[in-house]
Formats: sequence, C-alpha cells, structure tokens
Amino acid sequence: MNVPKIPVAPGETLRAALAGLLDGLPAKQAAQAVERLIANYRGSTPTDAPILRDRADVAAYAAYRMPATFEAVRSALGALADAAPGWAPGSHVDVGGGTGAATWAVSATWDGERPVTVLDWAEPALALGRELAAANPWLKATEWQRSRIGSALSIESTDLVTVSYVLKELTRDDRRSVVDAAASAARAVVIVEPGTPDGYARVIEARDRLIAAGFRVAAPCPHSSACPIVPGEDWCHFSARVSRSSLHRQVKGGSLPYEDEKFSYVAAVRFDADPVPERIVRKPQIRKGQVLLDLCAPDERLHRETVTKRHGPLYRAARDAQWGDAWPPPHQESAES
Ligand SMILES: C[S@@+](CC[C@H](N)C(=O)[O-])C[C@H]1O[C@@H](n2cnc3c(N)ncnc32)[C@H](O)[C@@H]1O
Repeated sequence: MNVPKIPVAPGETLRAALAGLLDGLPAKQAAQAVERLIANYRGSTPTDAPILRDRADVAAYAAYRMPATFEAVRSALGALADAAPGWAPGSHVDVGGGTGAATWAVSATWDGERPVTVLDWAEPALALGRELAAANPWLKATEWQRSRIGSALSIESTDLVTVSYVLKELTRDDRRSVVDAAASAARAVVIVEPGTPDGYARVIEARDRLIAAGFRVAAPCPHSSACPIVPGEDWCHFSARVSRSSLHRQVKGGSLPYEDEKFSYVAAVRFDADPVPERIVRKPQIRKGQVLLDLCAPDERLHRETVTKRHGPLYRAARDAQWGDAWPPPHQESAES
C-alpha cells in the first residue's frame, strides 16, 4: 500500500507554500493588493459577487490572511478534539472554504488522509487552494467545487463541516441556510468568525440553531444552555498567536514577530462529548501572589476565581494558564471547591 508521507507539520508546510506564492511579485504590489482587499472587505458586505476576483487577489488574500484563519480554526478544532478525544473525522466538507485554511487546520489536528470537499463560489480561490494543497499529502485528493451558499445549498453527508470566516459575508437568510445545511449533513459542525461583537453575535445565532437541530456544544462552552453573556455588554472570543510574514510587516508596519488573531467559535456535535468543566474566557491577570481567572461555568454563570499561593499546585497551574484553556486543569480541583 502506498502510505503518504506524514507532513512534518502542516502549519510549516502551509507557511512555506504561501511564501512561494509571492515569489516574483514585487513586495509593494503584494502590499497594495492586500490593502485594496482589506478596504473591499470593510466596505461592502455581504456582496452579491465574489470579492476575490483573480489570482493576484487570491494570492494576496491567502498570503496575508490564511496563516491567521488557519491558526484560529486550528485552535477551535483543538478544543473539539480535547472534548471528543476518541473521535476523528472520517470526512470533511469546508463551506466557503476559499483557499482551504480549514482543510489545513483539520490535517494539523487529526493525522491522515480523508475525503475532503471545499465549496466556494470564487473559482480563483479554489484554484489557488488546489495549488497549495499539492504540498500536503493528506490534502492531495481534496475536491474543490464551485458552489454558491444560499437556500439551494445542499451538503453531502459527512463527519465534519467547517464554516470559517464566512457568515460575515452572507445575508441573514443565507447564514441560516448554511447552518441548517451543515446541521443536516454533519455529525460535527465548527463555525469560526472574527472575534468581534458582530462575529460573536453570528456565532451565537448559529449555536442556537445547531442546538435546536439536536446538536450539543463541545466547545468552547462548558454547557449547551443559554450563553450568559448579555448581548451588547461583552462578547465571547479567544486569541491565536500567528507568526508574522514579511508581507504582514510591510502592510501593518511594526516589528513584532507575531500578532494575535481574535476569533469567536462554536464546535457542536451529534455524539457524546466531554466539554470543559469551566473555560478561561479572558487573559488571566497575574498579580503578586495571585492569579485572577475569568471563567465561564456550567451553570450559565460567568465568575472570577482568585487563585493564590496557598492553593499550591493549582496556583502554579494558574500562572501557566492561557486564555481559552480549560479550568481547572485535568486532575486538579478548583480553588472554590
Ligand atoms: C473571508 S473568506 C474565508 C475563507 C476561508 N474559509 C478561511 O477561513 O480562510 C470568505 C470565503 O467565503 C466565500 N463566500 C462568500 N460568500 C459566498 C457565497 N454566497 N457562496 C459561496 N462562497 C461564498 C468567499 O468566496 C471566500 O472564499
């Protein structure tokens, strides 16, 4: 049997493939294309025609945004994998998948080859996605299909559907259509949006719809009841660290070697999952001798826990804890119990 060579690390392979895209394109021209796309994305959403029109647009979008959407989706999928350690998707459909960031994130989360289909209405994005995927043995057989998200959308039965950074580009009706189509097709649905108040609102609307369709929430929430956040007062979001490419530095200036991509997400499943006991929903605040943790708890409650030196190993765990982590860490009891 011809077993494909295991990619060293899909994230690194993707980074190298993206760097190759800009070979030969003058840095200034690439930066201008990115700036035009950013302006377009700000101006006119939702649109009735693809924003990504040609290869130059798509190469610029991919080089600039794909590392960030890849890391955000990988983080969401990691939380799903933690909640369902015995499960791995046997097949995957990425709706509005563009150049395929989520397909790379799936291959970075669960080893091996599986049938993968990417649906998008932008042919140049699909073409570039196919080109990039040639560098990843687990994605070589991916099908890149032109498809419009709308009331006519139907998705073939699959284990996992991802919808990443797409809802923002859709009308309300089309957002509902894509979530309903995903719910009918899949055993697990992962939706990722920018970590803004609007992105969070779209995620919550999708979460409600998935629960009404019989799904339970595997992550990030510790429960499938109502979200305790009061709309307009706050929004649930997380952060993924992304190494900056030279294109990033050119467009955004600054010298930091990384940036933090903020995202909101929901991972919902039709099978048994073990959500976290509580989730850290803000960056932990480290003070002298204590750590303040803002937590989302299973009883539809947000609360702050103060972990001090007298909590011993738990204090050390709190000092290492990151925004988005489970709390308490496995095999430890919370400071309140
Ligand atoms: C911001 S990009 C996200 C791409 C990819 N999912 C990612 O996370 O990097 C949004 C994608 O949605 C696609 N899209 C937007 N509206 C669509 C529609 N009505 N039907 C099909 N695809 C659509 C765009 O062509 C684009 O590829």
